[in-house]
Amino acid sequence: MKFIIGVSGGIAIYKVVDLVRKFKKRGDEVRVVMTESATRFVTAELFREISLEPVMINVFDNEEVASHIKWAKWCDAMIIAPATANVIGKLTAGIADDALTTVAIAMTKPLIIAPAMNEAMYRSAAVTSNLVTLKNRGVKIIQPSTGELACGGEGVGRLPEPEEIVKHVDDILNVQKTLQGCKIIVTAGGTREAIDPVRYIGNRSSGKMGHAIAKVAAERGAEVILVTTSSLETPPSVKVVPVESAAEMRQVVLSEYNTASAVIMAAAVADYRVAEPSKQKIKKSDDTLTLELVKNPDILLELGQNKRQQILIGFAAETQLVVENAISKLKKKNLDMIVANDVTAAGAGFGVDTNIVTLITSNGATEFPIMSKIEVANIILDNLKNFLNK
Ligand code: PMT
Repeated sequence: MKFIIGVSGGIAIYKVVDLVRKFKKRGDEVRVVMTESATRFVTAELFREISLEPVMINVFDNEEVASHIKWAKWCDAMIIAPATANVIGKLTAGIADDALTTVAIAMTKPLIIAPAMNEAMYRSAAVTSNLVTLKNRGVKIIQPSTGELACGGEGVGRLPEPEEIVKHVDDILNVQKTLQGCKIIVTAGGTREAIDPVRYIGNRSSGKMGHAIAKVAAERGAEVILVTTSSLETPPSVKVVPVESAAEMRQVVLSEYNTASAVIMAAAVADYRVAEPSKQKIKKSDDTLTLELVKNPDILLELGQNKRQQILIGFAAETQLVVENAISKLKKKNLDMIVANDVTAAGAGFGVDTNIVTLITSNGATEFPIMSKIEVANIILDNLKNFLNK
């Protein structure tokens, strides 16, 4: 997931350094926005080094136009920790006079705050009433814990430990690691079948569909092996194995297959390859050039023939009789589910960020409207979870 962590000035900042590390370690992306007073406790450089992302302190320092709006759009949620009495007051009053409050007010995604301050301040009428107002507006509040306070004495007002904050955030966002303990192989992109050292036979697959599945599967806690021909960005916490041809893809998939819980083949695998690719670049000589093509192995068919515990999910890229053709592939390849897409429909199939799919199992077909590829991935993985639980 993508988080913006808003850091305001309080001694508990040292825990937020660890919080950022914890999110990064499990593959989340994190950007930090700090108040000026937070920079008195730690430097922006520290957060930049840990998050490997830019840190915002002043919206005007950033060369990007409307960076606060872009940041708010970029993330899945914003967490303000520690949230001081001052920041809580500003959020309640709608004051946006620094980068942190400006990003917070532009948030349309969940806003989570973790108040931390001296007990008397926390229990003051102003802070109590502000927190009630924020809660009523839908802001999620992580309650401070009780214990030794930085100002001396004991009381309520401590920032919870980083692992507790992570757990609260996951509970609030309902991020459930439903695929923990599963090993999932995902294939993506179009295979490239060499003609000579510089040319190949390829297709229009960008890898977006397969990479979206790999990303969401990893977010749900699965061990993901992404066998891909695409140079798209590597999803966090995913083991990526780059391949080119169908033969290479087959070899990697088979080597991981025995211990896999599921295979999802979103790749567009070439059905044919050049019988004998030339070792040297083919020179332009005659007016025509004839290439002899031979059949590639059907990877999914082979997986279906050797299926044991694995759940197999294929895709069907169709241009006509979409459901009928997909059903016959489901049966022939011994699949648990096939995702049919009409690759000629606008907003579906190759290259775009959306898809229009019909999910087909032995129980029937369910059609879905146009959705982002991430949403399609979520639906496929909900179904996979049901298969794995059977
Ligand atoms: O990558 P994008 O730009 O996001 O585009 C997504 C997509 C259109 C490529 C994707 O949604 C899709 O439809 N992928 C499957 C493409 C395909 O090869 O379909 P098919 O109907 O030809 O093959 C059926 C299934 O058998 C597929 O799961 C395919 O991976 C598999 N197959 C096919 C041939 C072969 N030799 N070996 C295989 O394993």
